[in-house]
Amino acid sequence: MNLQIKVSTVDNTTIFHLSNAKVSYILGVEDHHVLTHYYFGKAVKSYSGLLKYPRLDRSFSPNFSDATDRNYSLNTIPQEFPSFGAGDFREPAVVVEQPNGSTITNFEYAGYQITDGKEVLPGLPSTHADSSDAKVLTITLVDHVAKLTAKLHYTIFADAATIVRSTQLQNDGTDNVFVKRLASMSIDIPKNRYQLLQLPGRYAEERQIRIEAINPGTKVLDSKRSSSGHMQSPFFGLVSPNVTENAGTAYGFNLIYSGSHKSTIQKDPFEQLRIQMGINDFNFSWKLAPNDQFQSPEVMMAFSDQGLNDLSHSFHHMILDHVMTSKYAKKPRPILINNWEATYMDFDEAKLEKIVKKAADLDIELFVLDDGWFGHRNDDTTSLGDWYVNKKKLPRGLTAISDLTHQLGMKFGLWFEPEMVSKDSDLYRAHPDWAIHTPNRPLSVARDQYVLDFGRQEVRDNVFKQMCAVLDSTTIDYVKWDMNRNITELYNIDLPADQQGEAAHRYILGVYDFMAKITTRYPNILFEGCSGGGGRFDAGMLYYMPQYWTSDNTDAVERVKIQYGTSLVYPPVSMGAHVSKVPNPNTGRDVDIHFRSLVANSADTGYELDPLTLSDDEVKTVIQENNWYKKNRELIQFGQFYRLISPFNTNQGSWMFVNADQSRAVVMFFNMMSEPSYPLTVLKLQGLDPDAKYAINGHQQAMGDELMTIGFYPLVKPEHDFTSLKFELTKI
Ligand code: DGJ
Repeated sequence: MNLQIKVSTVDNTTIFHLSNAKVSYILGVEDHHVLTHYYFGKAVKSYSGLLKYPRLDRSFSPNFSDATDRNYSLNTIPQEFPSFGAGDFREPAVVVEQPNGSTITNFEYAGYQITDGKEVLPGLPSTHADSSDAKVLTITLVDHVAKLTAKLHYTIFADAATIVRSTQLQNDGTDNVFVKRLASMSIDIPKNRYQLLQLPGRYAEERQIRIEAINPGTKVLDSKRSSSGHMQSPFFGLVSPNVTENAGTAYGFNLIYSGSHKSTIQKDPFEQLRIQMGINDFNFSWKLAPNDQFQSPEVMMAFSDQGLNDLSHSFHHMILDHVMTSKYAKKPRPILINNWEATYMDFDEAKLEKIVKKAADLDIELFVLDDGWFGHRNDDTTSLGDWYVNKKKLPRGLTAISDLTHQLGMKFGLWFEPEMVSKDSDLYRAHPDWAIHTPNRPLSVARDQYVLDFGRQEVRDNVFKQMCAVLDSTTIDYVKWDMNRNITELYNIDLPADQQGEAAHRYILGVYDFMAKITTRYPNILFEGCSGGGGRFDAGMLYYMPQYWTSDNTDAVERVKIQYGTSLVYPPVSMGAHVSKVPNPNTGRDVDIHFRSLVANSADTGYELDPLTLSDDEVKTVIQENNWYKKNRELIQFGQFYRLISPFNTNQGSWMFVNADQSRAVVMFFNMMSEPSYPLTVLKLQGLDPDAKYAINGHQQAMGDELMTIGFYPLVKPEHDFTSLKFELTKI
């Protein structure tokens, strides 16, 4: 079925049917111009109107002012853009305070428009597609009393089981109004058995997969940190009770936004679900002047009836093909070494030189100089905001180390934390008011630093100028953009009292503005995002920066879980994954170099250790692994990724990569704790050509369908804790 948006009239109801070969999304206009949700899921050829909502008398569900019976209520009908105060007691998608103090709205359908292609949203990271690859349905809704127009955008792509939604609100009145809430999407779903899938986490333990029952009432998954944060990824899913990686129904919702977000899952008394996602409305208030518009971020809504792997493939495809804008999105990513866990801030030129030279011997391709090269920074109490070289540590500036790195055939990368300022810095001494603070309140510290108000142009301009001076001073091929605290005492000193509710969103818009400018000015620099590990790992960031440091937890055993959970939404090529020293600084765990390498080689690999401390055996392994990675990089970074065994429920973890023509695959298997009388696990593969024969690690042979249906025993007897195994499959 081709990409299409069909508009028809059935039984006096205007129906919109968005479809491609994979999904259909159907909505319509019922009595009283109510925009009604009918269906989102597997593609259907046509829709005859069978889900027109039954007219039913539901007690305590109010009716329209001109009603002649009690059978039709906003409180029960499944909607696409519900309001509060005119009959619906469920969560509204929109709340607007009007000049008379009322917050009641009621939006009625007013028209639609269909356009080809998908433009990015101005100022916001968002999806994009050429004119033949996507269509956008824009539905216009109007509240005639509040004098507001809402435009709901629905994008369907030719090649994805994904619909993208966002909302725009316009003030058509003559007075200011205040937007208190504007969800990016809202959908009502009839009684169902779905469970909630979410990715909660914490520092060094990001994106842990959790599935739970949905009970009556309202469940909120959110962040109030002005950052998407470690604690709650801007994602949730609805899954059938029997969902597995390879079977069952799964919906996923991912907000393309890096600030405070909120997802609401409400089960009403009739067991209908209302799900919503958008900017967090906590302390949010946006002053909308006459004729002004407010645009919400976008939500990617993916569907699969073939389990979680298939759902993830939709997100991976969307992020790589329709979200990322970097020229490196589809380009091979280098093997890097980062000096952070090797030296922390205790380094000088001589120490770095040794690391760089050794890294070149190990066939590493990029050296990244992390925190501590600027101002007079020797620990985390100083110098953020002073982006000039610390001459005590690097007397010949960055050029000497950059030149050496290039002479040895490697690229050179540098760490920045542009959004931050230390109290002990020239920048803070000159502009203490640039740190986000509330007048007359003490300012909380976190990691001994403050957040610069990137919502303000002059602040951004200063940091931008400083950063450009560094980037222009020598050859820099890669930048790691870090962000190590969340905002407290939030306030924007440029804004009047009635606009303080805009501060959080203006901050993140400022960050986006900065990122757009810097990545446009330096298109050849590969940017990697970071936030105390993977604290702001979201699709908004990936729009500007095609890879992200997944977690400060470099313990390979924990990393199996973190990378497994992260892959639910984000492709392996977006994840930084490094081999670090043992015992691991986070956990004290000692895991051999093979296990550590295999976990790192499952994403954008690299090293986070002092290479001079490696034993001869480890050096040999590292060189072998790097050469293996280079040969297989295309497959790992751009192949189809399948999760096979979840480390969340078992003592194991497994995943695999398959190339586009299914001629090659790599399977990785991790056994955590050794067990006596080891219970044998059968490993069944995915994504192979069922009719092709594969050689496994060059010797044993089996057909694709046998490997996928019957499987094999990957491990018979663990000799020690933390066993890792790699199986390379080649079609013969
Ligand atoms: C937090 C990051 O996640 C680390 O990788 C490192 O860059 C430190 N910040 C440096 O301060």
